[in-house]
Amino acid sequence: MTAGTRMTTAIVDGDTRGAARPPKLVRFALSRLRIEPRHRLLEIGCGGGTAVAAVAARLTTGHILAIDRSAAAVTRATQRNAEHIARGVAEVRQVDLAQLAVDDGSFDTIFALNVNLFLGPDLSIVAIIRRALRPRGRLVLGYWRRDPRQLVGRAERTSAVLEAGGLPAPVLDWASPEHLFLTTTAR
Ligand SMILES: C[S@@+](CC[C@H](N)C(=O)[O-])C[C@H]1O[C@@H](n2cnc3c(N)ncnc32)[C@H](O)[C@@H]1O
Repeated sequence: MTAGTRMTTAIVDGDTRGAARPPKLVRFALSRLRIEPRHRLLEIGCGGGTAVAAVAARLTTGHILAIDRSAAAVTRATQRNAEHIARGVAEVRQVDLAQLAVDDGSFDTIFALNVNLFLGPDLSIVAIIRRALRPRGRLVLGYWRRDPRQLVGRAERTSAVLEAGGLPAPVLDWASPEHLFLTTTAR
């Protein structure tokens, strides 16, 4: 089956609780993350930390670890999330995913928004994600592009890499014509 035939046409907006209204991709992501207050999440490539803020606001006993390899991004995300970090529900760390050291099964959910993680045939990134997810944990990847054709190509390449790396074929859903999500659940 091709990625195209697996796509659904569901259009679902995200929950927008919280002070500042986050960007559309983050709002669309929130409902797909299925956050529970006790959840442990990893965000890969957090950029300025808008998703971290939206997620952390929903956590009580849970925790979000946000990583980015860019020092400038980590500075912005840390500043934006100072209160959540002080509350102990968020941590922002400067590290490339390839160098991330965490215990196996650490996360209920791993997500990345607009991050180019699976461009080549290298499966080591998938292996890191598989190990870091708990059994039945979810990987959610969200992408925004003005041209939907770019999203279709990306989805097909990403699905192939995830499957080759041992994760189940992701479910694809369009949040809008410009926003596409891929979600897979670890075995
Ligand atoms: C296009 S930005 C998206 C930022 C944010 N997720 C957003 O939606 O606004 C991609 C970010 O991912 C980070 N990044 C890319 N590959 C990474 C990797 N392998 N490990 C950690 N961060 C990565 C980049 O430094 C950059 O900040």
